Amino acid sequence: MSEPHPDFLPYHRSWFDDDEINEVVDTLKSGWLTTGPKTKQFEEDFRAFTGCGHAVAVSSCTAALHLAFATQSFETGDEVITTPMTFPATVNPALHLGLKPVFVDIEPGTLNIDLAKVEEKITPRTRFLLPVHFGGHACDLDRLRDIAGRHNLTIIEDGAHALGAGYRGQRIGGHGHPVAFSFYANKNITTGEGGMLAISDAALEEEARVLRLQGISKDAWKRYSKDGFAHYELQTPGYKYNMADLNAALGIHQLKKAERFHEIRKRYAQIYTEAFKPMQEVETPEVRHYTDPAWHIYWLALNLETLTISRDEFLNIMQSRGIGMAVHYRALHLQPYFRNHFDYSLEDLPLASSYSERLVSLPLYPRMTEADVQRVIDTVQAVIHEHRR
Ligand SMILES: Cc1ncc(COP(=O)(O)O)c(C=O)c1O
Repeated sequence: MSEPHPDFLPYHRSWFDDDEINEVVDTLKSGWLTTGPKTKQFEEDFRAFTGCGHAVAVSSCTAALHLAFATQSFETGDEVITTPMTFPATVNPALHLGLKPVFVDIEPGTLNIDLAKVEEKITPRTRFLLPVHFGGHACDLDRLRDIAGRHNLTIIEDGAHALGAGYRGQRIGGHGHPVAFSFYANKNITTGEGGMLAISDAALEEEARVLRLQGISKDAWKRYSKDGFAHYELQTPGYKYNMADLNAALGIHQLKKAERFHEIRKRYAQIYTEAFKPMQEVETPEVRHYTDPAWHIYWLALNLETLTISRDEFLNIMQSRGIGMAVHYRALHLQPYFRNHFDYSLEDLPLASSYSERLVSLPLYPRMTEADVQRVIDTVQAVIHEHRR
């Protein structure tokens, strides 16, 4: 094992102040740890922030996606059109429910699902469109809605990267479809673990709330209220997906910082793009006119034919020089589960297949200083200069 770098810049670090710490302490002292008043407040604040109709706080984005599908009608074997350039959590809930993911290739520049190719994949079994706002860059929801409308499909958005992202002047979450958000440790705001289902339809919201906590009709915290004892009723076998007040305590204060975090991410992303766009050895993200990206990820795609090293060698050298790196993503159709159980072909998904070998993600988070950003730039440029063909 080599020695750890003395001044390692991690790929991500969260930002907490005394506000979060005091709110957690207050929760502990209140004696009420699980879903209760803090969760309710976080849901209310989140609803106001995104402009969604209703917000249901859950234990993860994966849980939110599960509830988003479970509250819809469909038949086993129905198809979900989505992107392969994502984390397994996008498709795992659909697979658990007996749905079949159908992958459409991605577009360069944003790495979002290529909307020009969606209709080729629609069959009589297609039931859902599941876009992922990759790295927080919104998909073109108007075009998606147009496709969904013509083929009678339901849109469910994976907004794990997209907290605070704008689409045509409105934040993601406020466009009327169910959207699943993540507050996992490395997300733009975090509750440690956690998620939110934004939903416009009041009946679906009610169903999601029941399914969130075992399928019982009353939240546990209401059962012990001063209004007197109330028995719960089991309506359907549900899940254990509720958010705890301990987590919501973090979320309440993280959300207050979301706009400030967004501005810092945006500024750092601009600095990266100014530095890297002129370099022929890398491809940089492009911003479409209809979005204000959340900049959850800053990716570069290496033009490998211009370099003497592979992507993985590049990652190792960067890490050895003290810069924490990540990869988002090696596409799902290349993963053993999908290779063994489905017949997606590499030729059918050429861009997702190619980007899977070339993508790297750079550190980008509000706790970085501008000097950190410059250090990342200097290191990337030095490594590339040393390994140019
Ligand atoms: C695109 C995408 N969808 C879903 C998830 C799942 O989020 P969670 O860990 O909150 O379940 C992630 C997590 O990283 C993600 O990147």
